[in-house]
Amino acid sequence: MAYALIPRSRPDPHTHYRPQHPQIIDLVWKVSVDFGRTVLRCEATLSFNKPGIVVLDTRDLVVATVFDDLDCDKPIEYVLGGRHPIFGSSLTFRVPLSCRVIIVYETSPEASGVQWLAPEQTGGKQYPFMFTQAQSIHARSFLPCQDTPAVRFTNSTILDVPKYVRGLMAAPEHGGRKDLPCSTRVTEEFKTPYPIPSYLLATAVGDLHSEALSGRTRVWTEKHILEAACDEFAETPDMMHIAEGLFGPYPWGRYDLLVMPASFPYGGMENPCLSFLTPSLIAGDKSGAHVVAHELMHSWTGNLVTNESWEDFSLNEGWTVYAEYRIVEMIWGTDMAKLSFGLLQREFERDVALFISKGQEFLLALCPNLEGIDPDEVFSRIPYYKSALLLHTLEQRVGRPRFDVFIKKYMDAFRFSSINCATFIQFVMQYLPGAMSQKELEVWFYEPIAIPEGAVTLSSPMLDDVLSAAKDRRILGRMANWNSIQWGVYLEACQVSPEIAWIVVLDELYKLSQSPSTDVRFAFLLFAIESGVTGYAKDVEAFLMTQGRLKYVRPLYRAMRDAGWTYALTIYEKARPGYHPIAQHAVDLVLFD
Ligand code: BES
Ligand code: ZN
Repeated sequence: MAYALIPRSRPDPHTHYRPQHPQIIDLVWKVSVDFGRTVLRCEATLSFNKPGIVVLDTRDLVVATVFDDLDCDKPIEYVLGGRHPIFGSSLTFRVPLSCRVIIVYETSPEASGVQWLAPEQTGGKQYPFMFTQAQSIHARSFLPCQDTPAVRFTNSTILDVPKYVRGLMAAPEHGGRKDLPCSTRVTEEFKTPYPIPSYLLATAVGDLHSEALSGRTRVWTEKHILEAACDEFAETPDMMHIAEGLFGPYPWGRYDLLVMPASFPYGGMENPCLSFLTPSLIAGDKSGAHVVAHELMHSWTGNLVTNESWEDFSLNEGWTVYAEYRIVEMIWGTDMAKLSFGLLQREFERDVALFISKGQEFLLALCPNLEGIDPDEVFSRIPYYKSALLLHTLEQRVGRPRFDVFIKKYMDAFRFSSINCATFIQFVMQYLPGAMSQKELEVWFYEPIAIPEGAVTLSSPMLDDVLSAAKDRRILGRMANWNSIQWGVYLEACQVSPEIAWIVVLDELYKLSQSPSTDVRFAFLLFAIESGVTGYAKDVEAFLMTQGRLKYVRPLYRAMRDAGWTYALTIYEKARPGYHPIAQHAVDLVLFD
């Protein structure tokens, strides 16, 4: 089913690409991983759909030459623009009649989308590790490209890595691992036959091992956590089965998981065929499995139907949170799905309060104007929770059977395309007539209102029980059986406690500061800092020295700053070298801006 897309009214503010430019349609990428110099030495062959002037996005790349693929003796003249702190430097040249250019370049050791870990910074402590994280606008720090989700291209990649590591690409294997004769290096080849946007390009190189969960799913990670990871994520094949019932056949062939070192800055990243996951999900109680459900569901809502720009990010995340809810509901029941959504609601409320306190109410809209703004800097739970809430509201108004038909229509209409919020609104008006007026939908997307009128509320007995206990900070016997999501909701909902002794008793009873769940340790330490308890400084330090997930580190440093803990600076000085460049930048802004 072809569907008319509504064009953007303004250019995408995060790229130099313009729709009239020649578009990249294919990439052949040769990447030599240099652990000694912590750079990627690359050759990118870019094919365009037509000749003409292009302006590519780059950041901190060292470009050696650009030449015509058909005429290697004749370099193409190019101009590298000045460096913008958020958007990087433009790279302008004329695409020749062959429509194919080769760019030879190196990344810089400071590339914002690449992290280099020395052996002692990995779990196994024996081999170095390197990985990329492109979302939102970091692909340009390792590939000159049209770094916008509006442009999709196929790719073939050859990684050239030392023999003692494994090189993975978030792409189907194609050619496999090949020894280079008389060399200490090997090549690993991959090919993505379907067009993907630049933010989904991803590679990871390290001491990686794998074990199968099913015929099409395996877990990759460092050896010492492989078994625990397989146990924790054992439900993944079931999730895929359920997902296919809801959203249609899985479109990408294999679906593998890669559990990263602890400095990975996100809970998960939906890189195609190979979701990247933080090791903090391995808590021994499956409490992190919903993150796998989330990343898996992005295979449809995000990777197949993609937001057109970072202003349309709520389409990716809202749909995915909604889809995650449906998977959790089928596997662990409605109560658990609602509890998990309740935790997200608490995180959302915290972000709403923060934006209001900073006078940034415009960020409460689902489709905010991000002109001149770094998408990472305004990352919040608003596009996640509010957009999923909109979908739950639509579902409630038309009933689930009709909504399920709508889901399939949506997937069908927009597969392998990138769409904006205006197109989504039009689609709802057309295919869910009577569910919501255009005006109401526009309020959700464009007005700076946290929760528009008429939104559904999702309550459940388990959630209500936790919330009522939190209301008067009760300590109940049944808490001994609580899972980490219940604890997360409780600690968030208790807000600050003026009684230090009460916090200490809670910890003595339930050992929250020592919990195997990173989520619980985080929620407890944050609660303690915000409540003015200083006795956990050493635990906070130990936590921040071993965790690089933004969801944890940013709030903890923010809370220490607000509580006037100068000790935060001492901790940060020691911890910073181990953080991902994205996390370093985020915490720099918290502490020094
Ligand atoms: N794609 C996101 C992570 C992301 C977003 C990276 C924006 C860079 C910029 C991923 O799918 C995600 O949403 N992860 C969540 C998982 C959670 C909602 C279950 C996370 O990391 O917290
Ligand atoms: Zn997501």
